[in-house]
Amino acid sequence: MTLQRTLSIIKPDATKRNITGKIIQKFEDGGLFVVAQRRILLTQDQAEDFYSVHKERPFYNDLVNFMTSGPVVVQVLEGENAIQRNRDIMGATNPKEAEKGTIRADYALNIEANSVHGSDSEENAAIEIAFFFDEGEINS
Ligand code: CMP
Repeated sequence: MTLQRTLSIIKPDATKRNITGKIIQKFEDGGLFVVAQRRILLTQDQAEDFYSVHKERPFYNDLVNFMTSGPVVVQVLEGENAIQRNRDIMGATNPKEAEKGTIRADYALNIEANSVHGSDSEENAAIEIAFFFDEGEINS
């Protein structure tokens, strides 16, 4: 058992449909604690920088446009094995492949507007958390 933190983003398709509460309920029901949270509008630079690992992918420009198209809620989630646990709660990137009851199966619109982002490794969780939050803003 390892207590971990992971970075979560509730994406514009979800904030626009006013379902942030329903999504947070899934995290809490799954045993994760929201230990930091902020609702922001990503700038073009922030979105490009955050998703820079995907720079060469054909969907990169669309992804950046989508992520700046409305407010997002950035969060730090904490819990036992939080990184994998959050990925299980979110479901597969493509909602068509996501397991029943996951956030993406229940709420995502398509592979791009897929309602949530979650860190995919311990290394990326540390980088992504530091991208948005100072240690003093995270309260367990
Ligand atoms: P996320 O977990 O935020 O990480 C990268 C994002 O790129 C992913 O969720 C999707 O929103 C988006 N994405 C991944 N694959 C595709 C794809 N094939 N087409 C469009 N968008 C994609």
